[in-house]
Amino acid sequence: MTETTLNAATEQARADTLLAPRFYRTDYAAMESIDVSPVRKQWDAMMAEFDRDENREHFRKDIQFDPADLPEEVREDFLDLLVSSVTAEYSGCVLYKEIEKHVKNPDISRLMNAMARDESRHAGFINRSLKQLGVAVDLGFLKREKAYTYFSPKFIYYATYLSEKIGYARYITIFRHLERNPQFRFHPIFNWFEEWCNDEFRHGEAFALIMRAHPELLRGRNKLWIRFFLLAVYATMYVRDHSRPKLYKAFGMDPTEFDYRVFDITTAITRQVFPLTLDTDNPIFRRGLEQLRLISVAIDTAKREGGVLNSLRRAVLSLKAAAVFGRLYLLPTQGNELPEDARMAPAW
Ligand SMILES: [Fe+2]
Ligand SMILES: [Fe+2]
Repeated sequence: MTETTLNAATEQARADTLLAPRFYRTDYAAMESIDVSPVRKQWDAMMAEFDRDENREHFRKDIQFDPADLPEEVREDFLDLLVSSVTAEYSGCVLYKEIEKHVKNPDISRLMNAMARDESRHAGFINRSLKQLGVAVDLGFLKREKAYTYFSPKFIYYATYLSEKIGYARYITIFRHLERNPQFRFHPIFNWFEEWCNDEFRHGEAFALIMRAHPELLRGRNKLWIRFFLLAVYATMYVRDHSRPKLYKAFGMDPTEFDYRVFDITTAITRQVFPLTLDTDNPIFRRGLEQLRLISVAIDTAKREGGVLNSLRRAVLSLKAAAVFGRLYLLPTQGNELPEDARMAPAW
């Protein structure tokens, strides 16, 4: 492993771009007052699942892989996926650990301990695969050096809930596809995805229960925030996935089809807690995501080429992106009646 490759991966993980996974801080004191008693029964059942820790051995198994077997044409996009995933997993780990450290509330500290445990395993596992490929992210460096974004607890619930559930939907969609089409499984890490995504699903359940225990988070003006986070998360995913065409080609998948399948699953899951869903089948929605993607490609080109004219172009393009985002934000949403019992099973 050379010094340069290690730094390049760590540098990529540290970079703060609009689309890259971030690290978060929050108001820990406010989390002290989370009261899960309205959902106590479901909460205890969920914590019993965390305690059983059925995936303990799963991430200890070794990945057998000869780096020479990685198809050259997929290498760049695959490494990009792994580095972005390890950053996201580790970001969860750091956030949950920090909350645990700062909070005395026994329900929350026990939960955060279990989730940090899972995310640390996930991050470590991806990093082992990266190491095998001659690249690794220096997670300690990341923790010290990456910029942290402050989110109020409410935003942490919306954003983290969504990213856990979307993580589940992505992993299970890839897993099921490769189960049906094993000839596209170019790396063994995808064999781990089924158990893995059940961890993510459970993490999402925790935030669903926290929000259901505090229904004011799901009413009034907060519905505007939920709408915002849904759109921001969906749009980011769409643009990012389309920036890795070779990866999806290697999967034998169309990234657009993949993304809409993931949206469908995520939308179905979020009915457990969000009072509204986005209509991702609306042709205006689909056209808007395509526009955002094209603008993002143009911004990247302008950035690469540099120069004064291109900085101006970038500014104009960013305004354009904001206008498209605004238009998508104003599209009609679908109302959702919350089910009596918030718990859901990972049935996809
Ligand atoms: Fe994870
Ligand atoms: Fe997670």
